[in-house]
Amino acid sequence: MKILSIVGARPQFIKAALVSRKLREKGVNEIFVHVGQHYDFNMSDIFFQELNLPKPDYYLGVGSGTHGEQTGKMLMEIEKVLLKEKPDFILVYGDTNTTLAGALAAVKLHISVAHIEAGLRSFNRKMPEEINRVLTDHCSDILFAPTDKAVENLKKEGITKGVYKIGDVMFDIALEVKNRVNEEKILTKYNLKSKDFILVTIHRAENTDNNENLKNIWSALKDIANSGIKLFFPIHPRTKKVLENYSLVNKIPENLIITEPVSYFEMVVLEGNAKVIITDSGGVQKEGYFFKTPCIIPRNETEWIELVETGWNKVVGTKKENIIKEALKTYNEDTSNKKWIDFYGGGKASEGIVEVLKSYGE
Ligand code: UD1
Ligand code: UDP
Repeated sequence: MKILSIVGARPQFIKAALVSRKLREKGVNEIFVHVGQHYDFNMSDIFFQELNLPKPDYYLGVGSGTHGEQTGKMLMEIEKVLLKEKPDFILVYGDTNTTLAGALAAVKLHISVAHIEAGLRSFNRKMPEEINRVLTDHCSDILFAPTDKAVENLKKEGITKGVYKIGDVMFDIALEVKNRVNEEKILTKYNLKSKDFILVTIHRAENTDNNENLKNIWSALKDIANSGIKLFFPIHPRTKKVLENYSLVNKIPENLIITEPVSYFEMVVLEGNAKVIITDSGGVQKEGYFFKTPCIIPRNETEWIELVETGWNKVVGTKKENIIKEALKTYNEDTSNKKWIDFYGGGKASEGIVEVLKSYGE
């Protein structure tokens, strides 16, 4: 059985790490394709090194661009690889332009598509990710849904065949890495104390490309820092560029620590030791929950709705005062007795995915 895995953006390197390892352990012939949507060292190579990802058989070097330009280039390059390799399946992850381009290139060549993280919805069609995941799900033959909610979403769109509720591959890798990292060393490196700081990540286009939203969030972060709380903000290149364009990165309060994006091992430690996380990232809000750290989400909706329903995460919108109020309230909350439910398959999703894929080859 030949499977062609397609990755290209940061969260996909992390999601693919264990699935790829387990496919290979089970003797599946996996061709690994890196589309090159992300390409800076600390947005790409660092994860290959840290997580022992296979060296890509193909690096397509697509890089950045407008949606049409980037997705179009991806389609052209992925198609060439598919025609040459003729895999039985392609495997795509999540909801980026890489995901959609992979699914679209394959389905037109009558190559079966398996989608990991199927069925998530924000119901906000203005998000590029929402379009990517809806279209990818509708091109897919096998849909690995992480949660019951994801299965329900697919059902509402008429997709019931080939759907497997399998758990979340991000939980698998998070658990593995948490057991391996030297927490003290990483906290010392960044001069941080456990449960004494807020971790921040912001990169969603709906926030970075909306002047008002970005200014509100930035101003809220500065005010929280000025109130005496330490914030640690590894900044996505997209956000850094926009902040620089608006000349917002001068006069940063001492307590607001901005760094380059960090490695996954470092991120796991930061997430586990933060008192609160402020994030618009899909992956980070879930990882916060894995490690029992509450998240404040400066967006108007989230795909990981179960985490809001349990009260761990709060969708607070992008009004400055609301972000500050909810962040400070959560910072002072005791969450030690808060109920925690495993929604994500207990760390066994990657194993389950490999079993299902193998059964299609028998
Ligand atoms: C993409 C995904 C988003 C995902 C995120 C993960 C789409 C539409 N969006 O958003 O769903 O949450 O990845 O991080 O696929 N850049 C660099 N160096 C890099 C990569 C990007 O400088 O290595 C800069 C470029 O200026 C680029 C911008 O970041 O134009 C945005 O990159 P892009 O891949 O288009 O989207 P992301 O915001 O990263
Ligand atoms: N991440 C990381 N370093 C960082 C920021 C994020 O390793 O500086 C990891 C994070 O732990 C998670 C993934 O990247 O596993 C999330 O990616 P991102 O926030 O870019 O995308 P999203 O999940 O929103 O699609």
